[in-house]
Amino acid sequence: MDRGQQLSGITCRPLTGADIPDLVDLLTQLRPTILRQSGRRGYRALLKHILANRDGLAIVALDGGRIIGYVLGARHWSRFKGRFVLRHPLLGIGSFARRRRDRADDVGEPDFPERSDGPESGRIIHVGVASGARRRGVGGALYRAMARAMSELGLARMVAHIDQGNEASLSLHRAAGWTVTPAPDGFLATRGLHEPAADDG
Ligand SMILES: CC(C)(COP(=O)(O)OP(=O)(O)OC[C@H]1O[C@@H](n2cnc3c(N)ncnc32)[C@H](O)[C@@H]1OP(=O)(O)O)[C@@H](O)C(=O)NCCC(=O)NCCS
Repeated sequence: MDRGQQLSGITCRPLTGADIPDLVDLLTQLRPTILRQSGRRGYRALLKHILANRDGLAIVALDGGRIIGYVLGARHWSRFKGRFVLRHPLLGIGSFARRRRDRADDVGEPDFPERSDGPESGRIIHVGVASGARRRGVGGALYRAMARAMSELGLARMVAHIDQGNEASLSLHRAAGWTVTPAPDGFLATRGLHEPAADDG
């Protein structure tokens, strides 16, 4: 079965407000590191912030109307994060500051080398696919849609952090032609937005 057949019936489109409850359910199952300690409340606040903020980007994948995957991102990561902390000081400071206090704790956000997180970089906050929908090309399709959205904003590259030991994520990024290098707590993955993806075509 080729990739086109595997993906038949699956649509990727931008997140809307009506998707938030279902997407919060999926995030609660997959438990991305960012805002993890705040649970549903933190994930809901993050999604609303993405929708309300011109730096936020979110794409969902649907199968028969059901959300089966997502990719969340932001341009101008520092500005995006700063506005989140201003709007949600308790959630934001709890999540974003804790990492610096205790690097052994797995909450908060990973640190990025400054050079990879400049104004021309689009930051991937998290990509996730429901456990029953994996290895059908959904993660790759979400990344292609996010690459188009970031390109349209004039960004030059996408940047993602991969946690130590996340072999599925490492393979996904390598298969799609990202450059992966060791970084604190895992790997830094970057991909130029003017390069064709390895699985395009
Ligand atoms: C990582 C994740 C998003 C991949 O989504 P997916 O829809 O299964 O990915 P795709 O089907 O598009 O996979 C594309 C390619 O990536 C590689 N890949 C993906 N998952 C893999 C796995 N578990 N093991 C080995 N390779 C894998 C393969 O090369 C695959 O191509 P193939 O199926 O033709 O061999 C999914 O496993 C997930 O949601 N994991 C939990 C959340 C997470 O870790 N997110 C990443 C945070 S950085």
